[in-house]
Amino acid sequence: MKILVTGAAGFIGSHLVTRLVEAGHEVCGIDNIDNGRICNLHHIPAWTKKYFSQVDLLEYEKMIPHVEGKDIIFHLAAKGSVPLSFVWPDEFFDNNVVGTQNLLLLMRHFKVPKIVFASSSSVYGDQPTSHKFEESLGVVKSPYAASKRMCEILIETTRFCASYEYINLRLFNVFGPRQRSIGEYAPVIAKWLQHKKMNYPVDIRGDTIRDYTYVDNVIDAFIACLNAGHASWNETYNIGCGVGTSLKKLLEHCDIKMYTENPRRDGDILTSIAGISKAGVLLDYKPKIDVKTGVDMLWKLEYSA
Ligand SMILES: NC(=O)c1ccc[n+]([C@@H]2O[C@H](COP(=O)([O-])OP(=O)(O)OC[C@H]3O[C@@H](n4cnc5c(N)ncnc54)[C@H](O)[C@@H]3O)[C@@H](O)[C@H]2O)c1
Repeated sequence: MKILVTGAAGFIGSHLVTRLVEAGHEVCGIDNIDNGRICNLHHIPAWTKKYFSQVDLLEYEKMIPHVEGKDIIFHLAAKGSVPLSFVWPDEFFDNNVVGTQNLLLLMRHFKVPKIVFASSSSVYGDQPTSHKFEESLGVVKSPYAASKRMCEILIETTRFCASYEYINLRLFNVFGPRQRSIGEYAPVIAKWLQHKKMNYPVDIRGDTIRDYTYVDNVIDAFIACLNAGHASWNETYNIGCGVGTSLKKLLEHCDIKMYTENPRRDGDILTSIAGISKAGVLLDYKPKIDVKTGVDMLWKLEYSA
């Protein structure tokens, strides 16, 4: 298949590209290297030289050769931090929402038949139940979450004039190799393992429960979309493990003893776990790697040396 991956040099995008190339697809990737890194693709140097381009979603003309003629687009490019979206809400809107709209206009023009979008569990906002199910949203609580929800709506509605099919995958707390681990806003598992390696204590805020999902599970879900039958398209799916892990439990999984405790951040919801039955039935999605196994694999692959 002829495939475009946006956000190809990012954490998840680089794993997706690798799996698609290994499977023999004709893949090209774009990324503006805002948060991505070319070194994320260094293990596939020949592919990177030939098929990777540094292009921004907002550069409409430059996007044309990458969109034209594709069978499917995996759309992962986005600014992805909840706290930073409060600092730069306008940039998050332009980048994520206007960028997606550009992509959809080009898909319409070149009649690209399919798009799979990397949405986020953040769209559930203040939805109070611990398990989140696709049909029941709360009020979104950040400009980042708003941008993801707006993209879902754009994708769901633009198809009435563009005649493509879509799948929105709402990803829950993804972790794994090549995720950024440095900086105040780094995701928790990467940051903690980095601190453990340096012998620094970690900081835990409240005891929130999240559905931490190893990246290979998420890539399985994207790949499942390639093989999905007609009835599975034009739908939205949660992609996680379906299991909640508290921060205290995560400390145990990471084998971290040195930590300081602080109150939960204002607005942080207590529990967010993916209800994954819909993805199980319609995408045949079943997470293969649990959080503890994933943490052990990540430690060995990236931090223990
Ligand atoms: N990591 C998670 O836990 C998680 C959870 C839910 C949703 N998601 C979504 O999955 C996708 C991938 O996330 P990730 O963790 O790999 O993040 P990432 O930041 O590593 O990857 C996103 C990539 O998109 C690129 N990008 C951003 N804006 C762009 C633009 N305008 N044009 C071209 N490239 C652009 C960045 O440079 C980066 O390489 C994102 O859309 C994110 O919102 C991630």
